Amino acid sequence: ISLGIDLGTSELKAALLDESGTVLAHAGARLAISRPQAGWSEQDPEDWWQACLAGLHQLRQQQPGAYARVRCIGLSGQMHGAVLLDRDNHVLRPAILWDDSRALAQAQWLERAHPAFAGITGSLPMAGLTAPKLLWLREHEPQLFSRISCVLSPKDYLRLRLTGERISDVSDAAGTLWLDVHKRDWFEPMLQATGLELHHMPRLVEGSAASADLSAAAASQLALQPPVLVAGGGGDNPVSAVGIGAIEAGQAFVTLGTSAAMVAITDHVAGNPASAVHSFCHALPQRWYTMGAMLAGASCLRWATQLLGQASEQALLQQVQEHLPLDQPVPAATPLFLPYLAGERTPHNDPLLRGGFMNLAYETTPAMLGYAVLEGVGFGLRDAMAAVQSAGAEVAACSLVGGGARSDYWAQLLSNILDREIYTLSGSELSACIGAAKLGFLAYGCGQDLPGLGMPVKARFVPAAGQQEVLQERYRKFRGLFSAAQALHD
Ligand code: XUL
Repeated sequence: ISLGIDLGTSELKAALLDESGTVLAHAGARLAISRPQAGWSEQDPEDWWQACLAGLHQLRQQQPGAYARVRCIGLSGQMHGAVLLDRDNHVLRPAILWDDSRALAQAQWLERAHPAFAGITGSLPMAGLTAPKLLWLREHEPQLFSRISCVLSPKDYLRLRLTGERISDVSDAAGTLWLDVHKRDWFEPMLQATGLELHHMPRLVEGSAASADLSAAAASQLALQPPVLVAGGGGDNPVSAVGIGAIEAGQAFVTLGTSAAMVAITDHVAGNPASAVHSFCHALPQRWYTMGAMLAGASCLRWATQLLGQASEQALLQQVQEHLPLDQPVPAATPLFLPYLAGERTPHNDPLLRGGFMNLAYETTPAMLGYAVLEGVGFGLRDAMAAVQSAGAEVAACSLVGGGARSDYWAQLLSNILDREIYTLSGSELSACIGAAKLGFLAYGCGQDLPGLGMPVKARFVPAAGQQEVLQERYRKFRGLFSAAQALHD
């Protein structure tokens, strides 16, 4: 049995997988985010460990027999967070997360000072990525900075608690901006540019390789029977890809969670930093992926639901579906929405950008605003797709994963906007946990066929004939609104 653990931003999930790829049990524990100042986003690594204990406790209660047979663990996690450790592995301050924008000036400085690095690290410097955060700490918390002995990515903190060792994998390491994504190894000039040295970095392994054994102390705390091997694991997007079987060049998928992304698998580094895509290492050797990353995805729908005083997202979606059926062209009076509630990465690389509704009238209804939100996120994904394609990665049909995949209406609208077939998958809510557990098996030396194992297709959506022209025109208008939004913060 393999145990997959996915450290998300709002929830830690864990699942038990058997060798045939069947999920035997799954559990979750909620996580809170602290936003001590505008644009800041932090979590206490201790909360992650407590959530891990709680999640594993639930698994043991549900399936004591299978839990006792766990031989390997795979880890997945939110990317780009900075966990700062002193030389005794004590946490120096709350972790700074992927959606934190305090390091904007530092990211801009890195871009100006080292323009050639982006082709090596796979991405432009962006405020949310790890390296600029360390520059911010050096400037604003110099005493703390001088005590930093190691910087870990979030899931690697769980590994530290599980094994006692400082280790990361290349897919998560790519999200730090300190990795040479071609060589899949640390890139010292970028470390030096942020005041760090190689010795501040954890040891690197591939996602499907063994990292370390569960320590005796952790085994007894978690009631697991040693020996248990911990695999490298990876960042949440690449590990989800393994979960749904997206491991070959040409496969693509969309995630619609708190954030959103268009991800295309490649067999080489397909990069175009100028378009603000990320070209990062996959969680399997000799594979990469090109990703257009949006900072707000399905969270836009949650926000609109609350703002409009709707009982639930479902209730709002119901009205949208009734008043704006997708077999008819969108009425011209329907507002447009810019989904930049938290700024944007691809293609704008601007954390200060903000969203908006345009074209409001007395006649505007909650249903119309709800539609505009779904469409605006879709247009953002269309921008992301164009950026991914500009890097030379292919996007044919796409699977759709994440909370947003629960809405068939949204899936159909995305198919119309992206002009691609879209598939939803049964069980995709657990894609990162399942991917992590698959990597656990690989590190343990079994389940060689598991990574390519896909998930059953739940529903298939094809671009509706007759919608393209109107949507194309609305997309053009959406693009036109960007400069106005940007001018608002200049
Ligand atoms: C990817 C990204 C998010 C985080 C949190 O670049 O920032 O997907 O990994 O889920």
